[in-house]
Amino acid sequence: MWGIIGTWAMVEEGILLGGRHLSENGSVMDAIEMAVKDVEKNEAYTSVGLGGLPNEAGQVELDAAFMDGKTLSVGAVAGIKDFLHPVSIARSLLDGVFNNFLIGPGAEKYAIENGFERYPMLTQKAKERWETHKLEVEGGLAPYIGHDTVCVVGIDSHKHMATCTSTSGLFYKKEGRVGDSPIPGSGYYVDESIGGAAATGLGEDIMKGCLSYEIVMKMKEMSPQAACEEAVKSFNDKLIERRGKAGDISVVAMNSEGEFGAATNIECFPFVVMTQTRGLMKFEVNQKGEIKSC
Ligand code: GLY
Repeated sequence: MWGIIGTWAMVEEGILLGGRHLSENGSVMDAIEMAVKDVEKNEAYTSVGLGGLPNEAGQVELDAAFMDGKTLSVGAVAGIKDFLHPVSIARSLLDGVFNNFLIGPGAEKYAIENGFERYPMLTQKAKERWETHKLEVEGGLAPYIGHDTVCVVGIDSHKHMATCTSTSGLFYKKEGRVGDSPIPGSGYYVDESIGGAAATGLGEDIMKGCLSYEIVMKMKEMSPQAACEEAVKSFNDKLIERRGKAGDISVVAMNSEGEFGAATNIECFPFVVMTQTRGLMKFEVNQKGEIKSC
């Protein structure tokens, strides 16, 4: 029994690639990396990898992470510029006892020393989007836009589970700003004896609740769907009660039986799943927890 789940419609091709790999008895570590790399290299997806959302200085600064649900090892990078596949750099950091999470110039130095080649990530289109939208942000007309992280959680036929994330973070963020996506427990978490979860949305709010860890712990007692719904609803309510508002929060999860779930506090959150028994599925979930195929 194998399965793989990912955030947003942009992950469909990646889930298909990863799912096919799992169907051929491939490892979950390779399957989830394959899925995220497919999104990172595609310029059409504007919030991840190539042509991602530029920061205030007009640079594409990327965050990514990888977690192995068997060993609980974490590898992560943040604020890294000009590498095509931050997720692969994150994966390569899994194994050391120390130095698992590297940032900025240190992460870039590590990447070069370990055979990752520089790749210009600010595309012409991303530059044009920056020129257009920066006026809106500076004029106070719009909040920071688009923070759609690609997150993938999977289980292979050996019951090995893993998860990974990749994002350019918020549009027009301060240089050096880091969101939830590379932070274990917040943007992602997996323990293969229970399951894995990952989050997308406003990192500053997601990290206030360590939502991915919360969902994994809840899955000890309940289904992935119930865990996602309970975690998002109660934390959304708490943010509104304590702070008057809550940023966008959407989550996906899969348990050690390959059952899956998703929840959101926005109008419509698309996600994609592929399992051994049900094949490729595309869904949307809304704030009420209603899920429909699409
Ligand atoms: N969730 C992505 C970010 O806030 O950077």
